[in-house]
Amino acid sequence: MKTTSFDHFQQQPIGCRALYTMTLLVLGTGYLFAMIQTFHVHSGRDGKPGLSHTDIQIAYSGSQSDTRLEAALKGSMSGMIRSEDAAVISGWVRGGAKMEKFQQQVEPLLQAHCSSCHGTDSQMRLANPHIPNLGTYADVMKMVQLDTGADVFTMVRVSHIHLFGMTFIFFIMGTIFLHVQMKAIWLKCLILITPFVAIIVDIMSWYLTKLYQPFAWVVYFSGVLMAMAFTVQWFMSMYQLWFFKLPPEQAETGD
Ligand code: HEC
Repeated sequence: MKTTSFDHFQQQPIGCRALYTMTLLVLGTGYLFAMIQTFHVHSGRDGKPGLSHTDIQIAYSGSQSDTRLEAALKGSMSGMIRSEDAAVISGWVRGGAKMEKFQQQVEPLLQAHCSSCHGTDSQMRLANPHIPNLGTYADVMKMVQLDTGADVFTMVRVSHIHLFGMTFIFFIMGTIFLHVQMKAIWLKCLILITPFVAIIVDIMSWYLTKLYQPFAWVVYFSGVLMAMAFTVQWFMSMYQLWFFKLPPEQAETGD
């Protein structure tokens, strides 16, 4: 009799199997909600439906292309100003949005073309608080913040919650999965180890994506890998808990 192997589910008391089953059901539901949450928060950031690596890139490192001011000048406000003048404003934003240049070049343009609606005391703006104030340098600066993605300290908070939480989830899942019978021990070990490696790679890649955007792919694939490991552990455990017939010779030796 091998002492290195775990009891199979079928050799365990019914109470133990009931406990494992209910744990799997609740963890599985939790994982589904986590997926919905992830999808809801990140999908569509790039303007296309579905969750892509570009969405993840934008979530962690920002869109890095347009500020709200530039987006408005290209979009809904494009009819308010000649395109040469709009280009002057964009050039000022791209050049670092300096105070001096604002006073020399940009403020007169805003005065002439925008202040009737966006001025500090424009009637239209007072009636509709959604119209941003473009009356002063400080107010305009609120519209020229580059979208730089998630704040690092928000990421630190989410990281520690994820690292602790995922360890609990996969420790519990793994403890149940240990009682599955698999011929290839190396494969069983791989399935057990994968989610732990994936969560570390995933979280490190959030920060790396901030520095170098293609790491969004690593975030994407480690998430997929983690979900796959969870799914395999869940279904194999559930199947062997209730539907698997242990070969008689193994049932005897407790292998
Ligand atoms: C006739 C009035 C009017 C003029 C003139 C006008 N705007 Fe607007 N602007 C609006 C209104 C109304 C909104 C809010 C609704 C919208 O976004 O279309 C708005 C919204 C904006 C926004 C915010 C868009 C966002 O991201 O929510 C910006 C930035 C902006 N305008 C810039 C400008 C600039 C720059 C000029 C001058 C070149 C200008 N607007 C001229 C009426 C005006």
